[in-house]
Amino acid sequence: MENILIKNTKALSGGQVVEAEIAIASGVILSMTGAPEGFTADKVIDGAGKLCIPGLINAHTHVYMSLFRNYADDVAFTEWLFGRVLPKEDAMSVEDAYWGTLLGCIEMVKSGTTTFCDMYPIAGMSAEAARKAGMRAVVSRGLTGSEGGERRIAEALGEWETWKHDPMVTHMLAPHAIYTCDTPFLERVMQVSDETGMLINTHLSESEKEIADCYAEHGCSPVEYLAKLGLFDRKTLAAHCVHLSELDIMLLAEKGVSVAHNPKSNLKLANGIAPVKQLLDAGVNVCLGTDGAGSNNTLNMFSEMNFACLLPKGVNKQGDVVSANTVLQMATLNGAKALSQENLGDLQAGWKADIAILNLDHPWMYPMHNVANALCYSATGTEVETVIIGGEVVMEDRRMTKIDEEEVYANIARIAKDW
Ligand code: NI
Repeated sequence: MENILIKNTKALSGGQVVEAEIAIASGVILSMTGAPEGFTADKVIDGAGKLCIPGLINAHTHVYMSLFRNYADDVAFTEWLFGRVLPKEDAMSVEDAYWGTLLGCIEMVKSGTTTFCDMYPIAGMSAEAARKAGMRAVVSRGLTGSEGGERRIAEALGEWETWKHDPMVTHMLAPHAIYTCDTPFLERVMQVSDETGMLINTHLSESEKEIADCYAEHGCSPVEYLAKLGLFDRKTLAAHCVHLSELDIMLLAEKGVSVAHNPKSNLKLANGIAPVKQLLDAGVNVCLGTDGAGSNNTLNMFSEMNFACLLPKGVNKQGDVVSANTVLQMATLNGAKALSQENLGDLQAGWKADIAILNLDHPWMYPMHNVANALCYSATGTEVETVIIGGEVVMEDRRMTKIDEEEVYANIARIAKDW
């Protein structure tokens, strides 16, 4: 692995913009203030006029769904899922899913994301594509109960066995949702989690229908149901959490459940708006995700940060809630915390070298009164010029270094032609 020195630059570190000279070796930031003694740089990056930020962490996505981008829009949720997505998903080959995931990796890197938390129906290809592109990945084969439940658990375990020694790949167990996993199956997943130490990744309280059905079947909210079942006694990341009672919010805080907020997907699928201000006020660790490109339609975390800043102000009719600083933290440190990734999500000596280098020379980035505000309210993601993940340059001057982008686009065009 190369020793890298980013010279004469500015960096976002500990929430502050600092003058920096970042020395990187063996995947780690050695120093933020110049080359330490004995350090020889194999590669020097001129950081003048640039801003280094911690790589963004997409805490909830289904990257293979990049194949569904712009395929099922402006339709009701039932048509979106049952009429459009599921029939295509059933016909999707392992190879299709792999190319779709690689496409998503390119989009994520090009918009400053360095780590993603993925859930998918075909085991193996998410980690494969992430490593091919040079990304850090937290992967989870989606688990649904009833017929085939044990087979899916076996696939998740097989994948975990294959990848468990790769420092760039972490596995979670992903019971898809309470409406696709019955109680005995959830108990079985809890048992596997206890045996393997894998964390839990699930969808929770996404739609009004899910809440109503849960009351009809279990006499309580989805959050109360999972709390009573004991699922939250394992470290859990819950995506969406749009419809929550005050008791639900208290339970999530008490049980240390992290919430992955997906503002654009919740809007597009007409599910509503999560009570992010209330969750943060209660002390819940809220991180940020895009969900899949079928319900977004991008994997661009800058766009997601923009929505995450704007929505709570409109909903609460209050301008001074959920600041850009808070949302940046959601997209970095809080994501790392939710995914149990140590020393990730900030730029500090001793921390992992996952860095997005932004070119600020764009009209919408002038003047730079406040960096956090510029990143959340003005940036588009196209400012990201060079990306380092685990100490390796995976994009330089907006070209992916480890994969052939044209080959990916050609394969996507081939797959989409038959749809
Ligand atoms: Ni999802």
